[in-house]
Amino acid sequence: MTQRKGLILAGGTGSRLFPITKGISKQLMPIYDKPMIYYPLSVLMLSDIREIGVITTPEDAAQFRGLLGDGSQWGVKLTYLEQPKPEGLAQAYLVGEDFLDGHPSAMVLGDNIFFGHGLPELLKAANVRDAGGTVFGYHVADPERYGVVGMDAQGRVTEIIEKPENPPSSYAITGLYFLDETAPNRARSIKPSPRGELEITSLLETYLTDGKLTVERMGRGFAWLDTGTHGSLLDAGNFVRTLQSRQGMQTGCPEEIAYLQGWISADNLRAQAAHYAKNDYGSYLEGLLED
Ligand code: DAU
Repeated sequence: MTQRKGLILAGGTGSRLFPITKGISKQLMPIYDKPMIYYPLSVLMLSDIREIGVITTPEDAAQFRGLLGDGSQWGVKLTYLEQPKPEGLAQAYLVGEDFLDGHPSAMVLGDNIFFGHGLPELLKAANVRDAGGTVFGYHVADPERYGVVGMDAQGRVTEIIEKPENPPSSYAITGLYFLDETAPNRARSIKPSPRGELEITSLLETYLTDGKLTVERMGRGFAWLDTGTHGSLLDAGNFVRTLQSRQGMQTGCPEEIAYLQGWISADNLRAQAAHYAKNDYGSYLEGLLED
């Protein structure tokens, strides 16, 4: 199988939430003790994906590059790609077409956070599924805010609707999409929605029509958090804090994942821990070397 490449869509609608901080990208703001983008980046790393394209607005590219560099500190290779305007999630496959270069992909939204027992196994299983696409359905209280799955009496997925007024189910599609190498071609074939965006749901519909879409359920043992409102942003920070304080383990820590995957050496980890010598994050990285 051709190696799957990753995409993180970290572009431009964050200013809807914080117009006052224009100039600072939302995905670089902290969720408790680390920048938001560390969480989706960790999801790709846990999927065994090491070549990753980071899609940002042209104005924000330098900030992301400054924070994440070339990725070699975590044993991954980061390439920066620019989406001039936020014209839809599916546009990422056109922006990323040359980077993907005929490879299948896993795209994650820069503001989505995933946590759960068995997550690495779920991700790795999606990674090795060759043909078609895999997305994840998650039960939410407010499905009208998301892309929503419609099902028939047998529970088979029949449609995916973006932000429906009357949601056909409570299952939202999370911002994590494992698609095969046909995604850029398919993205070219879809038309902008009434709100002027190339919708990811339209792209997924093409897979569904061809009988090539797997919708995996992420059960109640998983947490899927998004940060699209002020309240949900705070909730995400509190969630991470509660979990980490209780467990004494990190979530969304690229240094730890890289070390456990064997992508960086102990010396390398020690050097990175020294950057954070005076805080809990650094102590945690030090602790990994002792374990
Ligand atoms: O979070 C999951 C949901 O994400 C899905 O259920 C929906 O089907 C999908 O359309 C999307 O809905 P949102 O309303 O959350 O999308 P939003 O416009 O807020 O964009 C999500 C992130 O992607 C946000 O951090 C900004 C970034 N983005 C968005 C667009 C439209 C880009 O980088 N470029 C874009 O063109």
